[in-house]
Amino acid sequence: MADKPDDHPREIALEARTIAGEKLYSPSASRNRDAIRDVVLEVMPSEGKILEIGGGTGEHGAHIAAAAPGLTWHSGDPDPASRASIAAWIEDAGLANLRGPHAVDVTAEDWGADWGADWGVEAGAPFDGLVSINMIHIAPFAAATGLFAGAGRLLKRGGVLFLYGPFSREGVHSAPSNEAFNASLKSRDPSWGVRDLEHDLAPLAQKNALVREMIVEMPANNLCVVFRKQ
Ligand SMILES: C[S@@+](CC[C@H](N)C(=O)[O-])C[C@H]1O[C@@H](n2cnc3c(N)ncnc32)[C@H](O)[C@@H]1O
Repeated sequence: MADKPDDHPREIALEARTIAGEKLYSPSASRNRDAIRDVVLEVMPSEGKILEIGGGTGEHGAHIAAAAPGLTWHSGDPDPASRASIAAWIEDAGLANLRGPHAVDVTAEDWGADWGADWGVEAGAPFDGLVSINMIHIAPFAAATGLFAGAGRLLKRGGVLFLYGPFSREGVHSAPSNEAFNASLKSRDPSWGVRDLEHDLAPLAQKNALVREMIVEMPANNLCVVFRKQ
């Protein structure tokens, strides 16, 4: 399936990325970046501060920030090679509204409470949006727990938590390829796996004052899922 490559030299990414200098290029990002950008632009305000979690190569942030001059986009990743790539994408883009990289690991307790000095004043909470693309299924469930807890702490009232990836619904995979992908994730790490919107994420949303507002079907059996902070 298109977004679930079977070649995985970089275990955090599950796909064969290419590299030019410090810049990494992800085949899946080149395929899905327009479609994801369009949904982000639809659900985010035209002006505001966005925090991207698990930015990976940095391509999505650069692509979206270029189309949204009113959004200040802060990208980052806990993985050092990804941060180097994000920094290179930011430098090459030369966009005033593209910042980072931060090193937020959402499994850290109370993440986001003390980053101020490293990020610049404008980086601090509250945020208008948190964006995480293809992250919570390729990480232990603690990453989903930490992401939703952070969204509860750091989003403005009315702010958006935006997720993209494969998800199951009421315990059922949306396609055989997603079921196979889930099995392959679990064979790499039993703590990884396609998350279920109702069984896994709805309780996290409820606990953190987030209401699921929109689900957008995307190519290759992926979804964009939008939660709004109450
Ligand atoms: C499959 S990559 C996706 C990268 C990018 N968002 C994309 O779609 O091309 C998943 C990313 O999530 C990051 N990640 C994993 N666990 C994380 C955590 N606990 N907190 C923040 N990011 C995490 C990884 O380092 C990796 O860069």
